[in-house]
Amino acid sequence: MTVTIVGAQLGDEGKGGIVDVYGEAADVVVRYQGGDNAGHTVVHEGETYKLSLTPSGAIRGKQGILGNGCVVNPNTLFDEIDALRERGLDPDVRVAERAHVILPYHRVLDGIEERAKSESDDEIGTTGRGIGPTYEDKAGRRGVRVGDLLAPEVLRNRLERVIPQKRAIVAEVFDIDVDDLDRPEAFDVDAMYEQARAYGERLAEEDMVVNASAFLADAREAGQNIMFEGAQGTIIDIDHGNYPFVTSSNPTAGGAAVGSGVSPGVVGSGEIVGIVKGYLTRVGSGPMPTELGGVVGDTPGYDEQGAGENEELATHIREEGGEYGTVTGRPRRVGWLDLPMLRHSARVNGFTGLAVNHIDTLAGLDEVKVGYSYTLDGEELMTMPATTEKWARCEANLRTFDGWPAFDAATVAEEGYEALPENAREYLEFLSDELDAPIFCVGVGPGRGETVVVEDVWE
Ligand code: GDP
Ligand code: IMO
Ligand code: MG
Repeated sequence: MTVTIVGAQLGDEGKGGIVDVYGEAADVVVRYQGGDNAGHTVVHEGETYKLSLTPSGAIRGKQGILGNGCVVNPNTLFDEIDALRERGLDPDVRVAERAHVILPYHRVLDGIEERAKSESDDEIGTTGRGIGPTYEDKAGRRGVRVGDLLAPEVLRNRLERVIPQKRAIVAEVFDIDVDDLDRPEAFDVDAMYEQARAYGERLAEEDMVVNASAFLADAREAGQNIMFEGAQGTIIDIDHGNYPFVTSSNPTAGGAAVGSGVSPGVVGSGEIVGIVKGYLTRVGSGPMPTELGGVVGDTPGYDEQGAGENEELATHIREEGGEYGTVTGRPRRVGWLDLPMLRHSARVNGFTGLAVNHIDTLAGLDEVKVGYSYTLDGEELMTMPATTEKWARCEANLRTFDGWPAFDAATVAEEGYEALPENAREYLEFLSDELDAPIFCVGVGPGRGETVVVEDVWE
C-alpha cells in the first residue's frame, strides 16, 4: 500500500513530522521531487532533526529513496548522512540513477539570477540552492544525472558541452567576469569533473545508486508499504502554484508517480494526505491575500505599506510557531488560513484526508479567522485564480471563529480527538467540510507524541 504526503499550502506545513508519525508502518520512504531547498523537521525524544534530502523516515530507521524527480546535491546529501551518523543513526538512502545532480555552477547561477531580478524587485526569494537552474538543465536536456556520475566518459562529455555555455551566460547575459565570482572553479571543466567523479565514487562505494522504479516495484511485490514524502507545497508547484513565485518541480500528488516511477494508479489507490498548517506561512516573495504582517524584502509593496495593522498578531504567531525558515533562517510571512487556496489544493491533489498542524500555536487567541472567499473585480471567488496577477488583486473575505484556550499537548494526544477544546474541533470540522476530506490527524506540538491521530492511514 502507499501513502502520499503532500503540502497543501506554501511549504513548511509540517510534512516531516507527519511522515514521522505515520512512518512506523512504512518500509520505504520516497522523496519524489525537489532537493535541498526542502527543510523537514522531525522532533523525537527532545532531539530535533532538520532534513533537506534524507527522507524523514530515516529517523525511524526506514529505507529512503530519492526518486528520479529529485535534484540531488551530493555534497548536502553526504553532509547530512554524516551528521546523522554522528548522532547515532544509520540512514540507508538510495538515489535514483535518473535523478538530476545539482553542481556548484547551478548554485552560483541561482544567486546571479536572483540578484539580477532584484534590481527590478522581481526576485522570487529562492533558497539559493540551485534548484531552478538544475531543473532548467533537465528540461533543456543538458543535465547531469546521478547515473552519469558513475560513467566517467559520459560525465566528461556532458561537462565539456555544458560548462562553456554557462560561462557564456555569466559573461554575456549577466556581464560578470567569471574570475570575479566567489567560486570561479564552478565554471572550470576539470575542477567540476573531479568533484563530480568524487561524488560518483562515494555513491558507488556506499552502493547508493538504484533504478528507483524497479526498486519500488520489487518492494511492492514483496508486500512492502511505501510512503511518498512531498517537499514544498501545492501553491509553489511549477504547474499548479502561483507562477512565477514557485519552485521548479511538482510537489502535487501527480508528482509522486512521475517522480518515482510508479503508476499513477498505485498512488491513487493509496491515501493522499494533505498537510495543512492551521494558519498560513510563506517564505519568499509573491502574493498572500490573508497576510497579517509583512516581512521586509519578501512582502511585495512592504516599503509603501509597512508591516500592516496586524503586525503584532503576526509576530505572536511567528514566535509561538517558531516560524523561521528551516533552510535559510528567514522569518516566515504569516497569515490566516486561506480557503480558496485550499479548495484549489484539494482539487488538484484529491486529498483523501487531512493532517492539520499547529492547532496549539493558535491556542490562546480570542478569535481565529480564515479567508473564506475572495473578492476580485466585484465578484466573489471560491478558489484562487490561475494567474498570479489576478491573485495579487484578490481581497480575502474573512470569517471569524471563537478562539480556544491553551491545552496540554501530550494529554490531548493521548486521550484523542474529543479531548481537543470544543472550539478547535469546530474549526477543524469546518475545514474538513469545506475541503470534503476527513481529518486524519491533528498536530498539537512539534514532537512525535504531540499529534492526535484520528485515522491510521495504513489500515
Ligand atoms: P515541513 O517543511 O513541511 O516538513 O515543515 P518545517 O519543518 O519546515 O516547518 C514546520 C515547523 O513546525 C517545524 O519546526 C516543526 O517541528 C513544527 N511543527 C510541526 N507540526 C507542529 C505542530 O502541530 N505544532 C507546533 N507547535 N509545531 C509544529
Ligand atoms: P519544504 O519542503 C517553503 C520557496 C522559496 C522560494 C520558492 C523558490 O521545507 O516545505 P527554490 O529555492 O525552490 O527555487 O525557491 O520556493 N521554497 C519553499 N518554501 N518550504 C519549502 O520546502 C520551500 N522550498 C522552496 O522560499 O519562494
Ligand atoms: Mg520546511
